[in-house]
Amino acid sequence: MDFILYEADGAVATITINRPKALNALNSQVLDELDQTLDAIDLDTVRCVILTGAGDKSFVAGADIGEMSTLTKAEGEAFGKKGNDVFRKLETLPIPVIAAVNGFALGGGCEISMSCDIRICSENAMFGQPEVGLGITPGFGGTQRLARTVGVGMAKQLIYTARNIKADEAYRIGLVNAVYPQEELMEQAKKMASTIAKNAPIAVRNCKKAINDGLQVDIDQAIVIEEKLFGDCFETEDQKSGMGNFLAPKEQKVKVVPFKNC
Ligand code: CAA
Repeated sequence: MDFILYEADGAVATITINRPKALNALNSQVLDELDQTLDAIDLDTVRCVILTGAGDKSFVAGADIGEMSTLTKAEGEAFGKKGNDVFRKLETLPIPVIAAVNGFALGGGCEISMSCDIRICSENAMFGQPEVGLGITPGFGGTQRLARTVGVGMAKQLIYTARNIKADEAYRIGLVNAVYPQEELMEQAKKMASTIAKNAPIAVRNCKKAINDGLQVDIDQAIVIEEKLFGDCFETEDQKSGMGNFLAPKEQKVKVVPFKNC
């Protein structure tokens, strides 16, 4: 692959968008390679993924403006679908994905971070949807996910004004969960990923599905989704070992239950 680095370290994998000369902007090839990378993740071993950008300046500076500049209406729509399909695959990956936002997260960069389960960023991060300044709308899910993430009023303000915001403001409006000095970002992302990876994998996956699917339907249907995914955890080895450890005599308890994903 020319533009994606993939590294698995035990139960934690890191995907790095690696096109630093263009500040990791997303062209068709980057999107295709990301799509293939997501398909190739070994879900029997990997329990949490970190997504980041190469270099210390940019996470992803958006969709590739050069590539988009000559598109027809039909091609523009198809390019939007291409990005949306990959981002939806990322969003619905059975395991959690943490976006480690290490710089610019503009346009498609902000949008890809919102397709991840959790966003943390470095102090030099900058978020925004600058599309209306380019004569287009956000096209990789921004009009939908930003409103769902920070609320309709704030999303409309950011999108209509095309104003970019710094890390502290992104934190204040709930777009990111935490801000770290650049040199600590990956360490913190890995720490969080390892904590997630230590928990019962079937339960973590079912939590992700319950939250994501439940948010798309009314509360009565959402509760039924939760009940089914809750029930699905029972009779698993993970449930037996997790509860077994809690109920075991003190001297037999272990600090970290070796969950097996079955
Ligand atoms: N597409 C293509 N190339 C990009 C790019 C993008 N989104 N962002 C940066 N680059 C390229 C620049 O063209 C430049 O290439 P050259 O060296 O070959 O000239 C290189 O990356 C470095 O960029 P700058 O020289 O501009 O770096 P800077 O530090 O002066 O500025 C920046 C950084 C503020 C992020 C600026 O590059 C910028 O504004 N980029 C565009 C951000 C943007 O508008 N993103 C939204 C795109 S639209 C979109 O994403 C639509 C969608 O929803 C699907």
